[in-house]
Amino acid sequence: MNAEQKQLSKDNIVQANPTKDFFVYMLTRDIELEDAILELLDNCVDSIVRQIGKIDGEKPYAGYQAEITFNNKQFCIEDNCGGIPLDVAKNYAFMMGGTLSENANTNRGLLGAYGIGMKRAIFKIGQTATVVSKHGDTGFQVNINDKWLKKRNWDLRLTVSNEVMSHSGTKITVSNLSSKAKTACYMGEQGGFPRLCDKISRHFAYIIAKGFRIIVNKREIKPKPILFQWVNQATGRKKTGIAPYIFQANYEDVEIEVIVGLYRELPNTAELDQELKYGTMSFENAGCTVICNDRVVLYADKTAVTGWGFATAPSYQPLFVAIAGVVHFRSRNPLSLPMTTTHGVDVNSAVYQRAIVHLQEGLDVFTRFTYQWQNYAIRTEMAKAIKTVDIAEIKNLANDNALLGKWINMRNHKGMSDVHIFWPKLIEPNPNIDPTVITFAKPDSEIEEITEYLFEQPDYLLTPSDIGDICFREILSKARKNYEW
Ligand SMILES: Nc1ncnc2c1ncn2[C@@H]1O[C@H](COP(=O)(O)OP(=O)(O)OP(=O)(O)O)[C@@H](O)[C@H]1O
Ligand SMILES: [Mg+2]
Repeated sequence: MNAEQKQLSKDNIVQANPTKDFFVYMLTRDIELEDAILELLDNCVDSIVRQIGKIDGEKPYAGYQAEITFNNKQFCIEDNCGGIPLDVAKNYAFMMGGTLSENANTNRGLLGAYGIGMKRAIFKIGQTATVVSKHGDTGFQVNINDKWLKKRNWDLRLTVSNEVMSHSGTKITVSNLSSKAKTACYMGEQGGFPRLCDKISRHFAYIIAKGFRIIVNKREIKPKPILFQWVNQATGRKKTGIAPYIFQANYEDVEIEVIVGLYRELPNTAELDQELKYGTMSFENAGCTVICNDRVVLYADKTAVTGWGFATAPSYQPLFVAIAGVVHFRSRNPLSLPMTTTHGVDVNSAVYQRAIVHLQEGLDVFTRFTYQWQNYAIRTEMAKAIKTVDIAEIKNLANDNALLGKWINMRNHKGMSDVHIFWPKLIEPNPNIDPTVITFAKPDSEIEEITEYLFEQPDYLLTPSDIGDICFREILSKARKNYEW
């Protein structure tokens, strides 16, 4: 190649390298502040997994914790989860984006897969950060600041020091907070960052239940797991009751488990009436939750993402407030999980598409159950016998109470292997025992007239259903007196 050709080929080079602005200002737009912070907690969990290897037993994460503290100037997260090994810090941890190489694979835990979470979270929160970590006897410190952000070069300086921490763990301190983080942290200081604490209590419920402690500004977060109703009624030799629909299968290297059931009592007409007029019902726990390796990635969704109102499934509506669904994916390889780079749900993944069909199957069982009971109330002794169970207990209960439903086992089904489906035998309303719901409509003026007749003045605490109930009891007691007479 002569000089002229060389110059020509130089002129034809296209700039295709990523910019820092892309990672610092643009990528951070795709994630909410709270979700970015949850990803820092994911890293703590992964570090424990690498530390202890196998995750089994009831409390595998016991003894490990992450403590988050913040004010409107600084955000800090410190864990005791094992720390970042020096070679990982030098060759992977601070790179923007992971690789699919075997080497990266050995560094993985159960949640992190893309090599972006920690860096994106730092830039979402602020622009100056210090990461210190100690793994075994070796510790280090890495600083990220404005100067680095302005440079084209991506290298960061690492300082080895064993003094950085007294224990094995990692501490990330971010300052020069972004305006959003400043506001959230300021509001947080006043009221405990309610959105963050609430998200942690739901999204880490199963990890906290396995022993991991998360403390936010000195307050320990309590887990809020989804509990399903279970009641076992023996009528003669037959058993019926309320039990969830369960589906289990393997798809490639992912275990799928779907559970759909009731998490609260069915709504009554008065409650639905009030909802329609004043929006008084609470729906925060209704709907479907997606979990990947114990980490909730989508909580109580009521949209087509989890199958509602899609294909033959009905759309979510207040009548279905008692229904909850859970789909849990487990895999040793986090890249196989239906998780996006922001640790949300990857709806289009093949494994998710297979699971959603069965989530809809379960929703179908319980929406039909809800319609069936719409005009009846479950008899009191049965309602009293209802207990709530954790998803971990459900499989055992379904095995013990096999008569409460039917297990169907298939070796292969639509590309999945080891398929087990539990169809619950749900209790049907019995008009002779289960109270019938009476519904009728009357003008407000007449309801007011009756209220005033009964109480001599309007009583706004009583609902129209309460008034109807009082009238019914009045007449019933009169009828009984007449009868005794
Ligand atoms: N708290 C921590 N304890 C130990 N190692 C950590 C911690 N935080 C980060 N690391 C190391 O830094 C690496 C990079 O973290 P980062 O969150 O950016 O990516 P990832 O976890 O590999 O993938 P993802 O983008 O899916 O989260 C981790 O893989 C881990 O090796
Ligand atoms: Mg991560």
